[in-house]
Amino acid sequence: MVSEHTPSTTSSASPASQVLVASNRGPVSYTLGEDGTLDAKRGGGGLVSGLSAVDDKLWVCAALGDGDREAVRRGVGEPGVRMLDIDAEVHADAYNGIANSVLWFVHHMLYQTPVEPVFDAEFRRQWAAYETYNRAFARALAEEAEPGASVLVQDYHLALAPGMLRELRPDLRIGHFSHTPWAPVDYFRLLPDDIAEQLLHGILGADRAAFLTRRWADAFIGCCTEILGGTGRTRIGVHGLGADADFLRERAHEPDVDERMAALREQVGEGRKTIVRVDRTELSKNIVRGLHAYRALLEARPEWRERVVHIAFAYPSRQDLAVYRDYTAAVQSLATEINGQYGTESWTPVVLHVKDDFARSLAAYRLADVALVNPIRDGMNLVAKEVPVVSDQGCALVLSREAGAYEELGEDAIVVNPYDVTGTADALHEALTMSGDERSGRTKRLAEAATALPPQAWFLEQLEALRQDELPR
Ligand code: G6P
Repeated sequence: MVSEHTPSTTSSASPASQVLVASNRGPVSYTLGEDGTLDAKRGGGGLVSGLSAVDDKLWVCAALGDGDREAVRRGVGEPGVRMLDIDAEVHADAYNGIANSVLWFVHHMLYQTPVEPVFDAEFRRQWAAYETYNRAFARALAEEAEPGASVLVQDYHLALAPGMLRELRPDLRIGHFSHTPWAPVDYFRLLPDDIAEQLLHGILGADRAAFLTRRWADAFIGCCTEILGGTGRTRIGVHGLGADADFLRERAHEPDVDERMAALREQVGEGRKTIVRVDRTELSKNIVRGLHAYRALLEARPEWRERVVHIAFAYPSRQDLAVYRDYTAAVQSLATEINGQYGTESWTPVVLHVKDDFARSLAAYRLADVALVNPIRDGMNLVAKEVPVVSDQGCALVLSREAGAYEELGEDAIVVNPYDVTGTADALHEALTMSGDERSGRTKRLAEAATALPPQAWFLEQLEALRQDELPR
């Protein structure tokens, strides 16, 4: 699915084949052992698998922790990856201060506006670090890119890099991709005017700015139109990342997943239904309201007591930020409270796990009767797409209308307003009582929609669109 906002008029010389990707988090990370050895861990995800379709490539990313920094200093690295050893304080101000505490909050509309945000001198200091961090990426990309190469810059961490890179290297084809929602203009305007303009100009330094859904692309266009008077020469694209069906189906049938299924079945107990959720513990995931909705279900419909278990996996994320740590604690204490209130000797209403375990997530996907995906706002939400692909018996999907995935999955999901706890409890009941036939029919259609654009095709589609566009100014 590609839609171009401004049609291109000319095409010219064939572009260089080199592809560069820039993102804060890279495809590999290092931990420094007590004995001084470095242990490399490879990550997964859409970009990793997308980029594997390309031969001549370079991934530019930031060193995130001590292990990464040590690897850079020792000259240890993977071929095709360049890690930038940006000063740790500059990185913390840019990543935790601006990207995670301001830009993430703006695009997911997470502020409690009576008291925040406050854009003061401390914010300006952090903003300067964000500029420095973006400039480090722009310089590294300018250094590494062959003439006419394609550069794909990722996400809100690097909103200024496209503009900075354009100035250094007008010959490059530059794309920017937002993996988050984009804020509606009235909310985006919480940002100081000059900062809002700088962010938009930064992304508009790219030849193409792309998004996961039409809705986020339209919001970006809305911001550009209202604040700058238009999107200039930048074309706008939409590419809805899908689930990687081949990988998931194979991985979900490996022995470690079977083992974890057995363990989960044991915890759930014979003959009970399951409501499954799997998230990184982000404020935007709405895990607390999900638990409230589950409690409301047990309260309003006592017939479900002893007959259902809520399996909630809430994996740690961004634990440097106090508000994330508090949120994790709130999830844990509410789960404990529900178990205290309703649990019996033989029934634990909520099974909560906070330690990341991919095999166990797949096991939960396979046995889920109901999947609960109720974010306040989400760029896409791949869990909503993965569950129907992996599910053994068919699974009813309760899905927030504020998730990007709603655009493609809305028809066969049970759709909820994520703030409406009573409505979500009703949706859970509807999902739990859905007939087997209906459930499997819907799951089949959901899986088809979810896999329409698997990671490699998603990535190549962006690259093709960027290469087909007229050459930059
Ligand atoms: C989520 C978002 C991405 C973002 C990533 C960063 O996955 O969907 O848009 O890039 O978080 O996460 P991190 O753990 O690196 O802060």
